[in-house]
Amino acid sequence: MQRPGISGIGCAVPEKRLTNEELSKLVDTSDEWITTRTGIQERRVLGPDEDPAWLGVAAAKQAIKAAGLKPKDIDALITATNVSEMLIPGSSPFICEGLKIEKEIPFFDLIAGCTGFVYAAKVAADMVAAESYENVLVVGLEALSRFINWKDRATCVLFGDGAGAAVIRPMPDGRGVLASSLAADSSKWDLLRIEAGGIKHPASHKTVDGDMHYLVMEGGGVFKSAVTMMEVTTEKCLAQAGLTKEDVDWIVPHQANMRIITALAKRMDFPMEKVIVNVDRYANTSTASIPIALTEAVADGRIQPGQVIVITAFGAGVTYGAMVLRW
Ligand code: UT7
Repeated sequence: MQRPGISGIGCAVPEKRLTNEELSKLVDTSDEWITTRTGIQERRVLGPDEDPAWLGVAAAKQAIKAAGLKPKDIDALITATNVSEMLIPGSSPFICEGLKIEKEIPFFDLIAGCTGFVYAAKVAADMVAAESYENVLVVGLEALSRFINWKDRATCVLFGDGAGAAVIRPMPDGRGVLASSLAADSSKWDLLRIEAGGIKHPASHKTVDGDMHYLVMEGGGVFKSAVTMMEVTTEKCLAQAGLTKEDVDWIVPHQANMRIITALAKRMDFPMEKVIVNVDRYANTSTASIPIALTEAVADGRIQPGQVIVITAFGAGVTYGAMVLRW
């Protein structure tokens, strides 16, 4: 039996770089504060006239090409995102249209906070394992800059825009998904939220005047949950796969914050040299962060076929999860 796995990966980020130095002219912050607390040096931000879907399309094209396929070979599309292109009909139709997929394939958006890519990869892998679909495209697309309060120094320094994509299909030679674990804790839903714009608080003068359309976060609470949740889910996943951390070639964690990533490695007693990090250049791109990091590590030769890779994330909800793959 061939396991489902990631056969091609790709990413795209906006050209505009926003450095810590530039941010410190907008809000009361400093390069020193941001670098020490988060490890972030710069992030990419969409311009006001740029369309986020093009990022998803560009990432998807790269992933499809890397898998040796054409857009017409894609049988289903899942877009993991927190804030989609439009409330209705989401982001997927725009990505599908941009890829010029003429077949009427099923597509849908999936919201699972920053864990969205791991969730979507698991759903896609199950669709492939069930032999319902052969080539499932997963896109993590995020443009949180559009929901950031650029006057709130506690959040505006943390996020960046970007997209990453993966083609999930049956893999040869024992490669593919060895185990996965998804979980969530609804009691912590208020740690990270955008309150208005949905059906509870539709847009009104009150929601706009009350800054209710911006992302808000309880940073300390997120930090504590993030580290323990990623550790628990990674250990569980490795046990399911019958592996230990010594078998792992690379951990590719959600790129939220350098301190969270190093705390995770420390708690797991796992060497930082085997953890893929790019949060310094892109900040937290939410659902896009893992596929962007994977794409870079594949491109520069760190990740090689046959290696054991763990992806792990946490996010709003709060959700968390991990997947172990033989690449
Ligand atoms: O995908 C999930 C996304 N979320 C995260 O990954 C966030 C997880 N949380 C964190 O990484 C940390 O909690 C932060 C980096 C967000 C904050 O670090 P902290 O060490 O927990 O700082 P703090 O919130 O306790 O704030 C310490 C001080 C405060 O000032 P006072 O009250 O002590 O005077 C803040 O107002 O730092 C201040 N502060 C800032 N100062 C300069 C908060 N943000 C900034 C800033 N620049 N950007």
